[in-house]
Amino acid sequence: MRLFVAVELPEPIRRRLGQRIEQRRGGFPRASWVRPENLHLTLAFLGEVDPDRLPELTAALAGPVAACSSFAARTAAAGAFPEQGSMRVVWIGLEPGAELAALAARIREAVAGVGLPGDEKPFQPHVTLARCRVRWPAGARENLSTLAPEPMPFAVTEAVLVESELAPGGSRYRQVASFPLAAGAAA
Ligand code: 2AM
Repeated sequence: MRLFVAVELPEPIRRRLGQRIEQRRGGFPRASWVRPENLHLTLAFLGEVDPDRLPELTAALAGPVAACSSFAARTAAAGAFPEQGSMRVVWIGLEPGAELAALAARIREAVAGVGLPGDEKPFQPHVTLARCRVRWPAGARENLSTLAPEPMPFAVTEAVLVESELAPGGSRYRQVASFPLAAGAAA
């Protein structure tokens, strides 16, 4: 099974991002947009994992996540990968980067601790909105500045292990396990 660990966004935030996508999609022609119900922040991408290893993996993740305190986060500005040149991925950033990075680091360590391949990409907190397999027109980068809605606050109180099934109409996600963070200022 293809797995990743994520922070889910509250439904009102996904809905608001979905509305904004509808308003701004003309600025990013030929994009493949993530369906609002699928919008999430990936903390660690595990790739293919033998289902037999699930109990070991979930046991390894619970402690390190519970050692992190819940915290307040918010959506931020839009950005793109790569940072320069022809954009491939358009996203909304999340803050505060330090808390999210600390949570991602603990999770990646736990994943590596059970001998699964960790995420090789450095962590940059983002919610992917759209991907483009062909090139976006050069001017599309300018449209990033009006893509993000107002900053939206939410509480990070759990991380979730998600199975991703690749399907023709876009990936299908199924939550496999959830791991609560410790009660904190945001909880
Ligand atoms: P993204 O957050 O940049 O979109 C499920 O595919 C999730 O895992 C997506 O959110 C995706 O990235 C993330 N991910 C990270 N590394 C990946 C990889 N090598 N292949 C596919 N998805 C990856």
